Amino acid sequence: MKHIDSKTHTRGQSTYVDDIPLVEGTLFGAVFDSPSAAGSIIDLNIESALQMPGVVAILTWSDVPGVNEIGNIFPDEPLLAEGSVHYMGQPVALILAETESQARAARAHIKIEIAEEKPIVDARAARAAGQLIHPPRTFQLGDTEKAWAQCAHIFEGRAESGGQEHLYIETQGAYAIPGEYGGVKLFSSTQGPTQVQKATSRALGLPMHLIEVDVARLGGGFGGKEDQATPWAVLAAMGALSTGKPVKLVLHRMDDMRMTGKRHPYDSDFKIGLAKDLSIVAFQVQFHQNAGAVADLSPAVLERTLFHCTNSYSIPNVLATAWPCRTNLPPNTAFRGFGGPQGMFVMESAISTAAEALGVHPSVIQKKNLLQEGSQFPYGQKASQCHAEHCWQEAEEAYQLEALRSEIQAFNEKSPLVKKGYSLMPICFGISFTKTALNQASALAHIYLDGSLGFSTGAVEMGQGVNTKLVQVVEKTLSLRRAKIKVETTNTTRAANTSPTAASAGADLNGKALEKACLALRERLLRVASSLLKKPQDQLTLKNETVYCQGQASQLHWEDLVAAAWERRINLSQQSHYATPTLHFNSETNRGEPFAYHVYGTAITTASVDLVRGTYTVDKVQVVHDFGESMNPVIDRGQTEGGIVQGIGWMTMEEVIYNEKGRLLTNALSTYKVPDIYAVPKTLDIKFLKVEGHSLAIMKSKAVGEPPLMYGIGAYFAIRNAIRAAVPQKPMAYSAPMTPEKTLLALYGPIHQEQSQGLSEKAIN
Ligand code: MTE
Ligand code: MOS
Repeated sequence: MKHIDSKTHTRGQSTYVDDIPLVEGTLFGAVFDSPSAAGSIIDLNIESALQMPGVVAILTWSDVPGVNEIGNIFPDEPLLAEGSVHYMGQPVALILAETESQARAARAHIKIEIAEEKPIVDARAARAAGQLIHPPRTFQLGDTEKAWAQCAHIFEGRAESGGQEHLYIETQGAYAIPGEYGGVKLFSSTQGPTQVQKATSRALGLPMHLIEVDVARLGGGFGGKEDQATPWAVLAAMGALSTGKPVKLVLHRMDDMRMTGKRHPYDSDFKIGLAKDLSIVAFQVQFHQNAGAVADLSPAVLERTLFHCTNSYSIPNVLATAWPCRTNLPPNTAFRGFGGPQGMFVMESAISTAAEALGVHPSVIQKKNLLQEGSQFPYGQKASQCHAEHCWQEAEEAYQLEALRSEIQAFNEKSPLVKKGYSLMPICFGISFTKTALNQASALAHIYLDGSLGFSTGAVEMGQGVNTKLVQVVEKTLSLRRAKIKVETTNTTRAANTSPTAASAGADLNGKALEKACLALRERLLRVASSLLKKPQDQLTLKNETVYCQGQASQLHWEDLVAAAWERRINLSQQSHYATPTLHFNSETNRGEPFAYHVYGTAITTASVDLVRGTYTVDKVQVVHDFGESMNPVIDRGQTEGGIVQGIGWMTMEEVIYNEKGRLLTNALSTYKVPDIYAVPKTLDIKFLKVEGHSLAIMKSKAVGEPPLMYGIGAYFAIRNAIRAAVPQKPMAYSAPMTPEKTLLALYGPIHQEQSQGLSEKAIN
């Protein structure tokens, strides 16, 4: 089945926040944001802006009726700046006017005087200044100190990866309509409706039951709307309650890019030790996470970096420490992979460092150290139903790695101006929220008198296809046709206390809750069928919208069964709740079983580098991926392709640049380069590993939203390996994205002291 919204998307009929028909009297909001990255507010003058045509009100922190605070994990984030500012783009005031252009015009007339302080924009500088969101966290396995003595080779180095703009096509936005009893209904483009409801409740001083949040779908989220849809929704609600009018607040692209946080840049130091046979004996790493000005989701992102710091490898001695560094940048936030990609990039850089120094291709070390059944992760959980080697071997065979190797070698020997390189990128990604409590979901299903069914869950559709998968769950459990099934919007009055749709767990959690609801309805209906047909219930099943008895179709059709159930006063509605079993994690000891299961896979990537221009193409990405038993290969393939291209973008061309004043220089699509169709590899093959699915995955079909992004890391190393074919010995930093500028510098630039350290072997034997 295709995505259920394919047709309405194509016709432009799908509804997003900006498409909601406006209620008479709607006001439009514009946010005035801080022009400085750090300092105290000496004066804020809104007088002349208030006189501008159409302006109805301008709200500042002192107008916040409840608590001026929207922080989720830590309460460290004011809704509107109060006394001081901590990043450029921080919301200071909300302007409400009769039209959007009037609100934006008035914005230019607000005057702010700030006693500026020197901003910190760099994570290491923040650590040095003692600016941390919370104390560092450490994951430890074995004893690295003892282990170094057993190593034949030890290498140290540094690896940096940059930020990434989410670039959801639909920008952040919300529409708030004041309601009865002092409440408000909010249409929000959010991955976390409950989070919006909770933050609105606190800021407005209203009980949660007076706030209804409704989400039809998002034009993309990618993590950027897990927490950062909240301020705009709360501001719209505040405007609505303070004026008594509906308020619409939708950010323009450049406002969105300037005001919202992105993927966290990381700057890390590693040390890797290998035995003579190239097995990795010890790995030590210090991650410096550039968290931005407030916590947002950084503590959770940081934790996932630690969970994935050994990627798909079994390493007996690990010491990984992560520093959440507070800087004067917009709060960096969730982004597909949630810190995992940043961790894996450092692991791959460490392996590459060792390989280059030892004169082997990195894949030799990678293959030697792949996870095996029962291998222990640095957080105690053991790999089970582990397909790391299986995926690797399949990829080697299916894509003829040996032939590719010689082909590339032969090409490079003959080609003076273009060099090719290849890389392997195995991945292992844990599925579940690492905060155990978030691994719950609920579903509400109604069968109507005509036999059609509508259901609600906490899942938010953002293009990833979760609604389509949910429809499939109903189809399968109740044998209903697609046309009889309606997915309702995600709404806090129908699915309460929901987790955000994130961590790739949306389909698993909400799907399992919905499956439970449908099974309960089926059980009740088959009980009715049993009395109507006078057959034991355990002989009855539903198939093709008909009751079957021992494999034979009866005369009892779905509609008649539903009608008969209603006559007997049987409940045709069901609410069900699901909580993933088996999960536990102790964040004091950093031990437990945080994940329901892991997703595995291997990508082989080939790239060509133009030695004259420094440009490159990622020619081929060929993947063997563990989908479990895919319930929807069309969607799963789409998620994999999209994730890979987004990962390639992060690793090769998307460059978020702030200057030393904390100003975003790459603030528009003219200065920030995202992959387009020409950046997509000409060959993008995805093979589905043939395996038995995991029972904790919905219909045994594994979560697919985030893991494929990390194949994009392979593009970085394929390009690097191509550069290596031209300059085998030249010191070269591990610094992503590998832009054409960096490629030229790697080929012809001066050698920095710091870079050369990455290659110096500190052998002790
Ligand atoms: N795919 C599309 N088209 N748009 C998105 O915004 N978000 C990704 C991924 N795939 C996203 C996407 C992220 S960050 C996550 S966590 C998952 O989808 C969330 O959905 P799921 O839990 O249903 O997989
Ligand atoms: Mo996805 S980064 O977990 O929203």
